[in-house]
Amino acid sequence: MRGNSLSINIAGLQLKNPVILASGILGYTSASLQSIAENGVGAVVTKSIGLKPRSGYSNPTVVQTKCGLINAMGLPNPGIDAYASEIRQAKALLTVPLIVSVYGFSAEEYAETARRAVEAGADAVELNVSCPHVKETGVEIGQNPEVLVEVVRKVKAVVGKPVIVKLSPNVTDIAELAEAAADAGADALTAINTLRAMAIDIETARPILSNKRGGLSGPAIKPIALRCVYDLYEKVKIPLIGCGGITDWRDAVEFLLAGASAVQVGTAVALKSPAVFKAINRGVSAYLRKKKLESVKDLVGLAHRS
Ligand SMILES: Cc1cc2nc3c(=O)[nH]c(=O)nc-3n(C[C@H](O)[C@H](O)[C@H](O)COP(=O)(O)O)c2cc1C
Repeated sequence: MRGNSLSINIAGLQLKNPVILASGILGYTSASLQSIAENGVGAVVTKSIGLKPRSGYSNPTVVQTKCGLINAMGLPNPGIDAYASEIRQAKALLTVPLIVSVYGFSAEEYAETARRAVEAGADAVELNVSCPHVKETGVEIGQNPEVLVEVVRKVKAVVGKPVIVKLSPNVTDIAELAEAAADAGADALTAINTLRAMAIDIETARPILSNKRGGLSGPAIKPIALRCVYDLYEKVKIPLIGCGGITDWRDAVEFLLAGASAVQVGTAVALKSPAVFKAINRGVSAYLRKKKLESVKDLVGLAHRS
């Protein structure tokens, strides 16, 4: 046996298991990140942080549907300077890699926010170029290959830690954006962020979210996210992190077989409990034993064999 069968290295980040907390769910404070870490994650991603503080949208910002959540939080965050102390505290508490999610309204803002996050102790940054509900950032950056290349290059120029690019499914061809990010120097890709969606209150006959439109997450988007990972595995050489609708170990195994080296879990943590991380890891371990495989690495991309 090759030691811990669940351990995996992604772009230099050593993970004791391949299950990561997705951005935006319980990832605001060092205390909440630490409590998630105690639930057996391989790494944690913070809420997306920008250069300046942002209050986000007024309530309602989240609505539960039959098949997941629709959120339009509006990227509320205290700004990187105020958040730097949380990063420092989280670094002191955590025994798993700390990935700080950053966004910006220009390539310069992404780069400066990422630089300060790493200076404060981030082990890696994840570029949120995929938020579907805030104008002039997120997917408005991540849907344009030229702009995306500029963002990734500027961040890579000032950050000496792995740079992960989180892609949006709200584009015509996700593989084109993935290739652009990889060519610009991205170390890994996360696929996917939420899909544009909405819900209407039939009593008031009005959209439920204050922003009207939001992003759908949870079980409804899993087959779409899985197809994105499968497509990307055939196009890019850098590691992939699958995200979208993962609720149990079977979902996680599917993403690994499609080509993900690790997975992120968000909505299932919010709707079920942080216990989902240990349950996924137990299930993946049992699956490896059943299939007589030594390591989770042996699963990555297996569904592509002819
Ligand atoms: C309430 C909520 C807040 C989120 N906030 C962020 C965020 O700040 N940055 C980001 O990149 N993704 C954010 N996401 C997207 C998740 O990280 C993830 O990509 C998406 O929800 C799909 O995974 P899931 O189905 O496991 O939740 C958020 C999702 C939810 C439900």
